Amino acid sequence: MMKSWDDAYQNSELLWGLEPNSTLTQYVNLVPTNGKVLDIGIGEGRNAIYFAQKGFAVEGIDLSETAIERCLALSDKYQLNIEAKVDDITAFDIRPNHYSLIILSNILTFFPEEEIALIIDKVKMGLVKDGLVYVNVFDINEPSRKKAIDMYKRLGRHSFFDSATNMFLHYFTKDELEGFFSTYRTIKTGHSYAMDLTHGEPHYHSTLELLAQKTLNS
Ligand SMILES: C[S@@+](CC[C@H](N)C(=O)[O-])C[C@H]1O[C@@H](n2cnc3c(N)ncnc32)[C@H](O)[C@@H]1O
Repeated sequence: MMKSWDDAYQNSELLWGLEPNSTLTQYVNLVPTNGKVLDIGIGEGRNAIYFAQKGFAVEGIDLSETAIERCLALSDKYQLNIEAKVDDITAFDIRPNHYSLIILSNILTFFPEEEIALIIDKVKMGLVKDGLVYVNVFDINEPSRKKAIDMYKRLGRHSFFDSATNMFLHYFTKDELEGFFSTYRTIKTGHSYAMDLTHGEPHYHSTLELLAQKTLNS
């Protein structure tokens, strides 16, 4: 796992901006109102703030202390009540059958394949029936994959480990991402190749996203 997430936050005033993911705002009315929202890798809280402002009880975890401090400061500033704490998703127990929406925005890419499967299993258990899961990941066309092939240890066809930063990188295929949620109703899938202006020099990312609904009890 990357040890420099906190450095990245300390080197920037607001690393990811305050704009929530547009797919989440587009489908907010599909989120059942009988459960909470859980944002895994909540960062500075751009998505959490949006759902708290919509009246949802929102919880979030993140490895970075700086990110959590900033998220809580923003929650206070906007007079919201976001429960955000420092924690590691690989050790965090997700309460079963408890959440109306679980957000995995730009986080699953940073784990080895076996951890990804375990996290997704916990997420699926955590959702109430009709609850939604939102996932946004790098795909195999992501520009940084070329660097990963040249410089990092290869763990699998699309999986790498950078020992300098202690960071895992997994680049998803569309079938792989959708396969994890094959028993779910697909609300939206998307692919984007777009310039990222939120931090550092402008650069491109190639991403896949999925919004899916748990229609069965398991
Ligand atoms: C690319 S950022 C995305 C932040 C936020 N989800 C967003 O979309 O704005 C990835 C976040 O995941 C957090 N993270 C990485 N590994 C984690 C782990 N094992 N447990 C919890 N959070 C983690 C990082 O600290 C970072 O804030």
